[in-house]
Amino acid sequence: MKKIGLLGIAYNVPDKVLTNSDLEKMVDTTDEWITKRTGIKRRHIISDPKIATSDVILPAAERAIERSKIDKEDIDAVLIGTVTPDYFFPSTAAMVQKKLGIKQAMIMDFEAACSGFLYGLDIARGLILSGNYKNILVVAADLLTKITNWDDRNTCVLFGDGAGAAVVGKREDAHELIDVLSSGDGKLGDLLILHGGGTVNPMTKEMLDKKLQYLSMDKGAEVFKWAILEMTRISNKILEKNDYTSDDVDWLVPHQANIRIMEGVAKRLNIPIEKVVITIQDFGNTSASSVPIALSKYYEDGKIKEGQLLLLTAFGGGFTWGSALIRW
Ligand code: UT7
Repeated sequence: MKKIGLLGIAYNVPDKVLTNSDLEKMVDTTDEWITKRTGIKRRHIISDPKIATSDVILPAAERAIERSKIDKEDIDAVLIGTVTPDYFFPSTAAMVQKKLGIKQAMIMDFEAACSGFLYGLDIARGLILSGNYKNILVVAADLLTKITNWDDRNTCVLFGDGAGAAVVGKREDAHELIDVLSSGDGKLGDLLILHGGGTVNPMTKEMLDKKLQYLSMDKGAEVFKWAILEMTRISNKILEKNDYTSDDVDWLVPHQANIRIMEGVAKRLNIPIEKVVITIQDFGNTSASSVPIALSKYYEDGKIKEGQLLLLTAFGGGFTWGSALIRW
């Protein structure tokens, strides 16, 4: 029977590695603080400011299409979740479609910060159910280091760059997307925000002098609390809705923002830490790409096996959050 699901998945990160010891030379921090408070040891970052988000996406997208064993001509939509697009417009999806040489397709960016991959799966599933689309390239990618203030130790130790891509389609051998839920609430959006460059604070010298072109996180501990609460809540909701319990879950694939957040969610869901996909030590928080990077890394390492039940969950700026159940 044909199922809607993932046909292929892949990730890509830039080659340059920035370690915690490198950061010790840049801001007032220590490897011990970063490791203990976040679980991060190193992260991949772009080595050249000319590298754009679409450049990092390209190898991931090519590999995902190859693994899905479809012709790129059969892709009829490219959806990209990113808060660091190549340009305001045209969309990064337009850049990626052009660079991949895909025929005409629906090309669209959307913004859901760290929940980008889950939102993308949700939109893709809806488009396929409409009957008008067959194979959708869902990309979640961010180069947060482009909008990082390297003098701000509260944020600069947290982020890395990366891209994840998956082809979603309807086929007998698809990794079934059993269900996906997306949600959000803008009332605390100010806690994680990039103030400059948009219509509220357009790009002016004054805006740059105030350093509003960089992302800011106010009250990290508050974001931390909401992340645990909402990821737990929406994970329980999707399990219940589909008549599963957390005992049925083989792998929890959470957004990789902080090891302590992941431990908090796993504990509240009653999922042992051995069943949690953890890649934060090597990549840091890669925003939208964190969930697909974690998923495809464990898949490439042979840890995720056929038939296993995966529970994906993410939380990010907006605030946004989501969950998905996949039968691998
Ligand atoms: O991906 C989207 C969602 N984002 C998140 O989910 C991030 C959520 N928040 C977090 O992960 C954590 O709140 C952080 C990792 C950002 C911070 O950890 P924390 O345990 O909440 O620390 P804190 O903000 O309460 O700060 C504790 C102390 C402060 O010093 P004082 O005021 O106690 O003297 C900070 O100034 O740690 C200090 N601090 C640092 N020290 C060394 C903050 N950043 C650093 C640093 N190195 N890089």
